[in-house]
Amino acid sequence: LLRIALFGAGRIGAVHARSIAESRDAELAWICDPVEPSATALAGRHGGRASADPDEALADAAVDAVVIASATPTHIDLIRRSVDAGKKILCEKPISLDLAAIDRCWADIRDREPLLMLGFNRRFDASFREVHERVAAGEIGTLRTLRITSRDPHPPPAAYLATSGGMFRDMTIHDFDMAGYFLGDVVEVSAMATTNGDALFEDARDHAQAVVTMRAASGALCTIVNSRTCAFGYDQRLEAFGDLGSLEVTNQTATSVQASDGTRTGATDRYVDFFLERYAAAYRAELAEFLAAISEGRPPAVGFSDGRRAQALAEAAIESVASGRPVQPQPAP
Ligand SMILES: NC(=O)c1ccc[n+]([C@@H]2O[C@H](COP(=O)([O-])OP(=O)(O)OC[C@H]3O[C@@H](n4cnc5c(N)ncnc54)[C@H](O)[C@@H]3O)[C@@H](O)[C@H]2O)c1
Repeated sequence: LLRIALFGAGRIGAVHARSIAESRDAELAWICDPVEPSATALAGRHGGRASADPDEALADAAVDAVVIASATPTHIDLIRRSVDAGKKILCEKPISLDLAAIDRCWADIRDREPLLMLGFNRRFDASFREVHERVAAGEIGTLRTLRITSRDPHPPPAAYLATSGGMFRDMTIHDFDMAGYFLGDVVEVSAMATTNGDALFEDARDHAQAVVTMRAASGALCTIVNSRTCAFGYDQRLEAFGDLGSLEVTNQTATSVQASDGTRTGATDRYVDFFLERYAAAYRAELAEFLAAISEGRPPAVGFSDGRRAQALAEAAIESVASGRPVQPQPAP
């Protein structure tokens, strides 16, 4: 069994704690969070020793790997310390809010060839993965456009918004990774965004809606449509369009029952809500990939460079919103 230390006992930390506890290949050795009652409560549910200090877990020679699920501004420091301690790393997105800090971090750790995976859970969703495989197999011919829709049912709390780094770095980052997953390198990014005039987003200097258009090096085009609110639930769709056809992922519903009557046709249940439910299986598959990469001694399917690429697209989108012009993402050094 691989022994895992979990850093961060918040929303996503709870997801990882459960996945690790349920895995047959791993066990939770530590849960560390400066808010110790959070760590203790989560350890009470899923096992492991609770601590306020990640260094206790990093000093434990019996710990093979760490899952960094703490607040974003802590990721780089915890990555560096985990590499120093010789641990394998699964780190939540985004790596950092600062592209230059990401590049400095990689320059410092790359020679040690750390096994480092990024938590882009959507890559492990069965439907997105299936579309990716079928596009790669040539089913729709040359991929021409990728259309990604990602709308949250409701915004996170103001306190989360304050440290999240904003919509593009925190939320659209998943869509930027999807774009990279399907299209490889992107050469041009244009973005528009609005607050809807909502004080929550104006105070946080953040956005309520965004539309991003991108051109890939392959010539393929991509659009991303985001919203922080959506009256009909968590809206997660994708369409790959090519010369021979298209492949589309639609939203999931709790059951497949459809109702038709004098006022509606084909009405279904509400969409599965929210990311914890919609991607429950994907989070488990993500952990399984991390554990498999460790035991097989190979790089994981999603690495540091994928996190860096998504971040460069986020920075380009932010610059495009500010300048009103298309922006070329900054290439990796
Ligand atoms: N992949 C996904 O679907 C997904 C979903 C949600 C959040 N996230 C990411 O996960 C991270 C956490 O988000 P969240 O929603 O769980 O936030 P959260 O605020 O619910 O939890 C963050 C936790 O980290 C703890 N923490 C702060 N500093 C720490 C440190 N140095 N060591 C250990 N713990 C520390 C906090 O006390 C808090 O309990 C963010 O980077 C976020 O972007 C990813």
